[in-house]
Amino acid sequence: MFWLSWGFNVSEISKHVPIMVNEILTFLNVGPGKNFLDLSLGGGGHTEAILTKTSPDGLVIACDRDSSALKRSKVKLSEYNDRIRYVKNNFKDVDRVIHQHKDITLNGAMFDAGLSTDQLNDKQRGFSFLQESQLDMRMDESSGLTAKEVLQQLSEKEIADLIYVYGEERNSRKIARAITDAKRKNELQTTSDFVRIIESASKRTGRLHPATKTFQALRIVVNNELEELRLGLLSLVSLLPAGARIAVITFHSLEDRIVKNEFKNASRLKRVSVLTKKPVTPSRDEIKNNPRSRSAKLRAVEVLEKING
Ligand SMILES: C[S@@+](CC[C@H](N)C(=O)[O-])C[C@H]1O[C@@H](n2cnc3c(N)ncnc32)[C@H](O)[C@@H]1O
Repeated sequence: MFWLSWGFNVSEISKHVPIMVNEILTFLNVGPGKNFLDLSLGGGGHTEAILTKTSPDGLVIACDRDSSALKRSKVKLSEYNDRIRYVKNNFKDVDRVIHQHKDITLNGAMFDAGLSTDQLNDKQRGFSFLQESQLDMRMDESSGLTAKEVLQQLSEKEIADLIYVYGEERNSRKIARAITDAKRKNELQTTSDFVRIIESASKRTGRLHPATKTFQALRIVVNNELEELRLGLLSLVSLLPAGARIAVITFHSLEDRIVKNEFKNASRLKRVSVLTKKPVTPSRDEIKNNPRSRSAKLRAVEVLEKING
């Protein structure tokens, strides 16, 4: 195994391919000397593109709740270190980040929601139904309950509801019953156990793996993903200065609905002007080269002057 000089394992270099990079640069109106907030640093792809375009002196405040993402990006983006400020942060606490860095006038902010390829591929994290691992699924490994602990705490009905609401899974009741039986027999420990349990209750129809929606639902709950996104957007819309842009990439309809509604509400209040009447989606070429991009949707707004100062 090849090691970089500072002892970083090469296999830990990001494999994440950033999505709709040119669209993000355009909607954020990125240019020399401007400053941006990247709330979902991940593998650092969007941040790197922004830093390239904001040369020579534009800054990026780069945030993620996942310490591994911050660590990996610090290595990848070391040549830009004097223009990046790294912050471990959850979307919902973006107000604190803006406050702590108020010496920087921000020209825009972005969220690229969901999981990175690095998280999905990490055998320790439990995000993938294709890898044997503990049932964890926390983006921030230092806080909150693991997926297994969440399932241990919930009743059969609560599990069914979460799978139905956050996974939009029609077999939610059958799956919840199978999970509850397995819990009783102490047979729910790993991702492979979880997949087996789901498969026993729900057969494959079409191309989607039967575990896809249930994994998504549990991940959303473990990481409080929808509420974090909503609160983050609310803060940004009220805290960014006039003229700043906000761009958000989401990967499923539940997230996109939140972004659409929050932008619509802010627009009604004359706080933002919506730049994307319909969500922007990746080009055919991008989807061909990076199939993971196929469900991505981008929405963007520009912040307007506050009416009452
Ligand atoms: C799709 S990846 C971002 C990829 C990145 N734009 C790039 O170009 O490499 C999403 C990242 O956002 C982080 N994330 C997701 N939800 C978050 C939240 N509520 N608060 C903070 N970070 C979050 C994840 O940990 C993950 O690293």
